[in-house]
Amino acid sequence: MPRKFFVGGNFKMNGVADSLSSIVANLNAAQVDPNTEVVIAPPSLYLLLVRQLADPKFAVSAQNVFDKPNGAFTGEVSVEQLRDAKIDWTIVGHSERRTILKEDDDFVARKTKAAIEGGLNVILCIGESLEDREADKTLDVVTRQLNAVAGVLSKEQWAKVVIAYEPIWAIGTGKVATTQQAQEVHATIRKWLADKISPEASDNTRVIYGGSVSEKNCRDLAKEPDVDGFLVGGASLKPAFVDIINSNI
Ligand code: 13P
Repeated sequence: MPRKFFVGGNFKMNGVADSLSSIVANLNAAQVDPNTEVVIAPPSLYLLLVRQLADPKFAVSAQNVFDKPNGAFTGEVSVEQLRDAKIDWTIVGHSERRTILKEDDDFVARKTKAAIEGGLNVILCIGESLEDREADKTLDVVTRQLNAVAGVLSKEQWAKVVIAYEPIWAIGTGKVATTQQAQEVHATIRKWLADKISPEASDNTRVIYGGSVSEKNCRDLAKEPDVDGFLVGGASLKPAFVDIINSNI
């Protein structure tokens, strides 16, 4: 079975009820490739609204989750609460949380495990900074980020993970990775899955690209053998998101 193309829309901290409702209405009305899995991630306050408004063929994702089941953790949202709200996915380890909120590899790994054990699917974000890339450390960094998660998940639990490779220098900058840069890292991730997890995980895990994906560059990226879809920020708020969803046809 080929890997199903996967496109996520990460709305980040954008939108209010009105604007998010029209984004969802546009998506509901669009012709989208039925062979692409589409997941949208609104701000947590609007998860219930978006789940209510979105066509059931679209999955809804949180942008973050906490690693503890409940208790005195002011401002956090639990896996159980997301499941109760009919949310099936969460993003974990986004670089904005790693850098601005100082989330480290172990915390990201614990959240990934808690999410999967509680029944969520996870979009696990990894990626290097410009400094790392210029120092030729890209593959070391992504491998280190993945090793932390491999340390806590069973081999079978990788079936619940989509890996999003998002080079930090490409996020929100308009400076998309070249097709070769993306393919090189994605192929390394797939080899890492084969060596560290299992041949099945290597064959079946979607590795998606994020960072300045647009309706202009998505088709070339989608042609790369190890690019299984996208995690889209800015463009997921615009009508162009539909073109990105349909970039694999
Ligand atoms: P942009 O598409 O805005 O570069 O953001 C990418 C991203 O961070 C998705 O998670």
